[in-house]
Amino acid sequence: MIDKKILQALLKKVETPFYVYDAQIIRENCSKLKNAFSKYYPDTEIHYAVKANNCPEVLRIIKNAGLGVDCSSPFELLISQKTGFKRSAIMYTGNYESPEDLDFALKYAGLINLDDISSFYRIKDLSLPEIVSFRINPGIGKGGFEGITTGGVDAKFGIPYEKALEAYKTAFRSGARRFGIHMMTGSNNLEPLYFAETTDKLMHIAGSIFSSLGVTPEYIDIGGGFGIPYTDDEVPLDIERTAELVCERFKANCSKFKFGNPVLRIEPGRYITGNAGVLVTKVTGKKESYRNYTGVDAGMNTLIRPALYNAFHRMETPFKKRTGHLKTDVCGRICENSDIFCRNIPLPLLDEGDIIVFRDSGAYGSTMSSNYNGRPRPGEIVTDSGKIIYLKERERLEKMVALHYEQDEQKP
Ligand SMILES: Cc1ncc(COP(=O)(O)O)c(C=O)c1O
Repeated sequence: MIDKKILQALLKKVETPFYVYDAQIIRENCSKLKNAFSKYYPDTEIHYAVKANNCPEVLRIIKNAGLGVDCSSPFELLISQKTGFKRSAIMYTGNYESPEDLDFALKYAGLINLDDISSFYRIKDLSLPEIVSFRINPGIGKGGFEGITTGGVDAKFGIPYEKALEAYKTAFRSGARRFGIHMMTGSNNLEPLYFAETTDKLMHIAGSIFSSLGVTPEYIDIGGGFGIPYTDDEVPLDIERTAELVCERFKANCSKFKFGNPVLRIEPGRYITGNAGVLVTKVTGKKESYRNYTGVDAGMNTLIRPALYNAFHRMETPFKKRTGHLKTDVCGRICENSDIFCRNIPLPLLDEGDIIVFRDSGAYGSTMSSNYNGRPRPGEIVTDSGKIIYLKERERLEKMVALHYEQDEQKP
């Protein structure tokens, strides 16, 4: 929970809604993951998934913790380079990549995971990447919600594993001699065994591909997906056990298929920033309708996870004690009935202007925010040991309006 004194100071300085990230928690999460994996397989490299949270200060913290990045768009590549990540630490994993995306990837990323054989044809027309790596759909996948399940027969990502050998053969015939392999089968998983089993499957797929080609892979990337609890009942992912089980299968398969010591890559997003952030909002209206509603100044435009996946974020009211309860739906101001954070939640009796803090909002919060209904995107603040070290205010209306009409000034 965010420190009350910092929150009070922030509320005097910044208009709600805003996200606050705790640098110490981000650093701790980086070390937990790093220590766990390097203990069982020292050649592990971690690429933080920029899509989870791209706040410049957050990226600097992650860079200083020694992680690389995984990018999914030209914008993410550009900001990663601007943050100071070396090309060799920047990976690109897109899907249905356009020639423009691939051109950016070739320029800024040392590592590229291609989504399909058609992506290979497109990139080859520009230039052959130093290492050819394909994202494989291993036929299985699991995520906290259907929308974040990215492997299996209904997933739009990657090459079905049955077609993977053909893709690598094509790359080989085109002159590629250095290879990697990648998968990302789902997000917010909390069971260590899931990671071990999917790793095992990918290793067997890699085994059959690379033995057929007579080469060994330089890296094997098992993606992200390391989850965090969003409710009191969920048990946190045991990362130590996850690393132990994954590395056990990884090493056993490396010897079985005579791979030597390829780099094991992982791409965590949520695990690094999810529990390090909160969203601070203010009550703007209360209504007794067929149900009780409490409206806040953040909405699905600020934090879309509840509307998109039916995700739940625990709420806290730091300045209101739990005297007198009201069961209420908490909603935003967007003109959609899916703009509801939660139904029927017991909260202290709140007044207009009171603060509600949404927990665990540090991943897929601000990066998924939008200007829908013409609402400004939220501010972002980073604190470190009780000090504010980064502050970006929420978007200014005047700037939004000016940007909207910028096009008018370019004569057709
Ligand atoms: C290719 C890729 N890698 C890594 C991640 C990070 O996932 P997570 O935040 O679940 O660790 C994602 C998330 O969608 C992704 O698409």
